[in-house]
Amino acid sequence: METKWWHDAVVYQIYPRSFCDANGDGIGDLAGIIGKLDYLKTLGVEVIWLSPVFKSPMDDNGYDISDYCDIAPEFGTLAEMDTLIAEAQERGIRIVIDLVVNHTSDEHPWFVEARKSKDNPYRDYYIWRAPGEGGAPPDVQRAAFGGSAWEFDAATGEYYYHLFSKRQPDLNWANPKVQAEVHRMMNWWLDRDIGGFRMDVIDLIGKDVDRGITTNGPRLHELLREMNAATFGHRDVLTVGETWSATPAIAKLYSDPARRELSMVFQFEHVTITHDPEHGKWKPRAFDLVEFKRVMTKWQTELADSGWNSLFWCNHDLPRAVSKYGDDGRYRVESAKMLATALHCLKGTPYVYQGEELGMTNVRFDSIEAYRDIESLGHYRERIAAGVAHEAMMEGIYANGRDNARTPMHWDASPNAGFTRGEPWIPVNPNYVGINAEAALADPDSVFHHYRRLISIRKAHPVIVYGDYLPLFDDHPQLFAYERRLGDERIVVINNFSGETVELDLPPELQGVAGDCLIHNYDVPPRLDARLALKPYESFAIAVRASAN
Ligand code: GLC
Ligand code: CA
Repeated sequence: METKWWHDAVVYQIYPRSFCDANGDGIGDLAGIIGKLDYLKTLGVEVIWLSPVFKSPMDDNGYDISDYCDIAPEFGTLAEMDTLIAEAQERGIRIVIDLVVNHTSDEHPWFVEARKSKDNPYRDYYIWRAPGEGGAPPDVQRAAFGGSAWEFDAATGEYYYHLFSKRQPDLNWANPKVQAEVHRMMNWWLDRDIGGFRMDVIDLIGKDVDRGITTNGPRLHELLREMNAATFGHRDVLTVGETWSATPAIAKLYSDPARRELSMVFQFEHVTITHDPEHGKWKPRAFDLVEFKRVMTKWQTELADSGWNSLFWCNHDLPRAVSKYGDDGRYRVESAKMLATALHCLKGTPYVYQGEELGMTNVRFDSIEAYRDIESLGHYRERIAAGVAHEAMMEGIYANGRDNARTPMHWDASPNAGFTRGEPWIPVNPNYVGINAEAALADPDSVFHHYRRLISIRKAHPVIVYGDYLPLFDDHPQLFAYERRLGDERIVVINNFSGETVELDLPPELQGVAGDCLIHNYDVPPRLDARLALKPYESFAIAVRASAN
């Protein structure tokens, strides 16, 4: 396998609105991010994935873009963006920007033009259809934030298509002009020296609306190969597609270097197994570790020789890892570290979402009024109207709502967690007094320093980056354990996903082998004795000495 700089790098995701507010208006901004670059350098990350900072009416917090080549005034200026790119580079950090091209904002000049008349030159940049029977929408397709995927536009008497909010009209990728405009814009950013693109819901761009095909449409891979050739293909950047619909076979199409599409994709199978088959994320299913391991092992194994995995627990659309997969109470610190070790010792590129390195937790606001997310609010309205009880819907929001990840970053114990000196756009999680960056930096045993060590051992041990993955104890209901092997190098990783002590016998070939502990979350050094007794959420990685065999 040809090595790439992003194979042993760790990516840190910033959700700008919630990261750091430099000017006191309650909204995080570019100046705030620039001020925290040294913090990220200390952590050791080499890439920042920056969620959208472009001009936007902020219907979906910037995932609705009205000008791809300018910065939203609440975030700063283009000059500040250039400064961020340069200042990050000085610290060995590249900036990956969010490419949101399944749709634009309804305030994008293309859409403003398109809706003026049926013969407007921009009409065909979007997807328009005549009304169905009796003026109804053309068909029954639904939008992700609730309601129909079709919005009637009175000016021209037709419906336009939107898979997200009605203020996010879908671009028409069947139009070569759309393709050319997007390529031009991507090159404009590449020329400003960005480190690559995270591609928002990219599996939707090959859609065939009239056949009701949205994900994995017939033209998807052709469009990506054309994009690769016209833009980033000859540059050394990281590209990662958000693909909720990917299977391992599809992920290989995207990420096999020979096919010249993307570096890697985010797959969500380990996330969707925790959603209800009928009600989705709003009716959470209990986390089943054996099922989770089956999914992880499948991805690790199937992408072993071609393609590349991305590894993540959280992002700005998902709940906090420690609340969902660990214990955000008594064992918050132990379980946050365990989850980090379990993920970072796998093969693939790890992503850390802001605050994850502090063990930040989900939030439970008493009232729906405190929530800001268009998705939670849209589904709340729709489901309450359909008869779902308020309490049941709130439980869904507490478990899986996107605002869990979007409360402000905890910098210190001062008011509003040091995020802003003004009024934050969304309330802070009250637990910031104990959980914050200042305290974590000062404590050598913090979750932060655990992440810092994991990021540095990945650099030092090629077996973590390139080694084969071999699962251990497949059916054990509490342990996620595996080995990684590369030539003579071997590491054994054992993670207790429960708040109980777990005793077990190691397989004979691992009993009593000598090794060096690379990382651990308790202070008594672990040993591969015949019988292990693991403490609650105990987790470690041991490098087995070659001479020991
Ligand atoms: C992606 C983004 C999400 C956004 C949606 C529409 O899923 O991660 O935040 O709402 O696309 O752009
Ligand atoms: Ca601000």
